[in-house]
Amino acid sequence: MTTMDDVVAAETVLSRVDGEGGRLVVHGLDLEDLVAAHGFEATAALLWGAIDPELGDLELGDPELGDAGEVARALGSARARAFARVPAILAATEDLAPIDALRAGIACLAADGDRAAVVLATAAMPVLLAAAFRRDRGLPPVAPDPALGQAADLLRMLDGTPADPGRVRALETYLVTVADHGMNASTFAARVIAATASDPVSAVAGAVGALKGPLHGGAPGPVLDMLDAVGTPANAAAWIAAALDRGERLMGFGHRIYRTRDPRADVLKAALAALGPRDPARTALAEAVERAARDALAVRYPGRRLDTNVEFYTALLLEAVGIDRALFTPMFGVGRVVGWTAHVLEQRATGRLIRPKARYVGPVPAGDTFRAAANG
Ligand code: ACO
Repeated sequence: MTTMDDVVAAETVLSRVDGEGGRLVVHGLDLEDLVAAHGFEATAALLWGAIDPELGDLELGDPELGDAGEVARALGSARARAFARVPAILAATEDLAPIDALRAGIACLAADGDRAAVVLATAAMPVLLAAAFRRDRGLPPVAPDPALGQAADLLRMLDGTPADPGRVRALETYLVTVADHGMNASTFAARVIAATASDPVSAVAGAVGALKGPLHGGAPGPVLDMLDAVGTPANAAAWIAAALDRGERLMGFGHRIYRTRDPRADVLKAALAALGPRDPARTALAEAVERAARDALAVRYPGRRLDTNVEFYTALLLEAVGIDRALFTPMFGVGRVVGWTAHVLEQRATGRLIRPKARYVGPVPAGDTFRAAANG
């Protein structure tokens, strides 16, 4: 079966995923260095500025030094603009889960020009997510505070009260960690849409749809479901073995590109530790499940190293930050939207229409002699 594994779909200056070495470089910075020196807004400045230094007429300063004040101000005022659309979007998405409300809400946005659309789509993600979450609990939406950063404002819009700095730092580390990751499925979807000369809002709406699937961004909620089902550390090995016998995939393990440990898992594990002492029983359970899963996968697939991926520690970190598991997948989008929009800008600036071929293997007209071929 064709999966495009080895196809190079674009040239990019945004990020490099080294699957053999277990390394992620984001526009010249190792992930660990990016996270240590850049908050969410500085990461947006780094990635957008890599393609379009004039983005939104923002004075980006030197993005590599993390001078992201103008980006923060632009995102803050765009969050307020997005909030003005919230009543109409909530009315139209009443029966939808948060990820679907987000997809629909993004599609309702309109901006004047690509740069404004990039900023608005990025700013709207936390606003729409928080409003949909509160609506499902019978609570009114909380208006954004344009003076805050995206991470702090998201927690505030979810809870209705200011968040403590430790939670903000942990969430911000998460958002930066997932900001960009090569030609992943949702980024590719965004680039395909952008390559038709469609607009950034449409590209982000399509990317949210791609992110939703459990093989991409939908895994962290099921990671916690798995921990709940395992119940105790002593049950981990038997539960994992039974799940694999049933042919199930273990959420939070394996990756198409990494042949070793996903470096994002360790960055998020460190962020979890930095939050301070957690529930010891939960920690012991998570460690037992991770160990049992890695051991069992190594035995079943000796030729294919399947290790912990970003989603396992995403689940544990977001749970510790106090995020409801229904929000895990859309939360991934709140971080990844920076990468999506940077790739959209890059595709528009440097790419051409993406139009691969298909190999036709269906029935042929009577008397025709052609057989399966790559023929568009
Ligand atoms: N649990 C059980 N078996 C697995 C897992 C897993 N997590 N991952 C791979 N395998 C199996 C495959 O079924 C395949 O078996 P087969 O040869 O008998 O068919 C074999 O290992 C090799 O699979 P790969 O080629 O390595 O897997 P692929 O590249 O197709 O899929 C994917 C990668 C989708 C991430 C897969 O590992 C998976 O489903 N993981 C669980 C879901 C998950 O954690 N998703 C988040 C990924 S990270 C991200 O996108 C942000």
